[in-house]
Amino acid sequence: MSTCVITGAASGIGAGLARQAASLGMNLVLADWDEAGLTNLASSLPVETLAMPTDVRDDAAVQALAAAAFDRFGAVDLVFNNAGVLSSGLSWEIDAATWQRSLDINIGGVVNVIRAFVPRLIAADRPARIVNTSSLGGFLTSPFMSPYSATKFAIVSISEALAAELAAIDSKVQVSLLAPGPVKSAIMDEQAPAQTADFMDMLRGMNDENGMSPDELARIVFGAVERGEYWIIPHPEMLDAPLRKRTEMIVERASPTGSGLVTAEEP
Ligand SMILES: NC(=O)c1ccc[n+]([C@@H]2O[C@H](COP(=O)([O-])OP(=O)(O)OC[C@H]3O[C@@H](n4cnc5c(N)ncnc54)[C@H](O)[C@@H]3O)[C@@H](O)[C@H]2O)c1
Repeated sequence: MSTCVITGAASGIGAGLARQAASLGMNLVLADWDEAGLTNLASSLPVETLAMPTDVRDDAAVQALAAAAFDRFGAVDLVFNNAGVLSSGLSWEIDAATWQRSLDINIGGVVNVIRAFVPRLIAADRPARIVNTSSLGGFLTSPFMSPYSATKFAIVSISEALAAELAAIDSKVQVSLLAPGPVKSAIMDEQAPAQTADFMDMLRGMNDENGMSPDELARIVFGAVERGEYWIIPHPEMLDAPLRKRTEMIVERASPTGSGLVTAEEP
C-alpha cells in the first residue's frame, strides 16, 4: 500500500488529487489550513486518511506533518506540494503584507515541504516523487498578478534545482513540476482591489467556463506520475507557442511590452 501526501488538500486541485489517490487505494496524508474543509474531505474518502490542519508557512508545523506521515504509514511515496494563493493588483499598490503572504505561502510553504519531506524520503532510500505545483503563470508573465507570477516562476527554478541535486547524489527520489492552465477551483476567490476587479472577473469567468475539472486534472497528473514524467503540463496548447515567443523575445532582447506577449488589457 503506498502513501500520498497533499498540501492544500481541502479545495480545488488538492481535493481532486486526494479523490484520485483514494480511488487508487493509496493511504492519504492531507494538510490544509482550512480545518473544516479538510475534515469534510477526509470523511468522504474510503481510504485510511491522516488529516492534519497545517499552515505551510509554519516550518515547525510542516516538520510535524512529515514526522506524523512517516510515523503513521511507515513510508511516503508521493508528495503533492500544492497549497497556494493568488493575489491581484498593480505591483506598486499591492501592500507589503499581501506581497509577503504570497511569498511566504507560494514559495516559503513549498520550501518548507521540501525541507521537511525530502531528507526523510532520501533516508528511506526507496523510489518516491515530490510534485511541486507551479502554473502556466510560472513560464509566462502575468501582469496585474505579479506576486502570483513571481512565486510561480520561483517554483519552476526551485524544482529544477531540486531535481538536479537529487540526481547528483543518485537519490531514488524524483521530482515533477506541475504547471496547470485553468482549473475550476477557489483560487480566484480572493477579493480583488478596485483596479483589477474587472480583470479578475474576466479571468474568473474564463475559468468557470473553460476550466478543467480538478478530477480530470488529477487523472492527467497521476498518469504522468505513473510514467515518471518531470514536466506535467495539462494544457500544452496554452504553453508551447507563447513560451517559444517569450524565449525568442529574451534572446532577441525585444521589449516585453512591444512583443505582443503582455496582452492583458489595462484593468
Ligand atoms: N486553479 C487553477 O486554475 C490553477 C492553475 C495553475 C496553478 N494552480 C495552482 O494549484 C494549486 C492549488 O490551487 P487551486 O486552484 O486548487 O486553489 P484552491 O484555492 O481551490 O485550493 C488551494 C488550497 O490551498 C490551501 N492553502 C492556501 N494557503 C495555505 C496555507 N498557508 N497552508 C495550508 N493550506 C493553504 C487553501 O485553503 C485551499 O484549500 C495552487 O498552488 C495554485 O497556484 C491553480
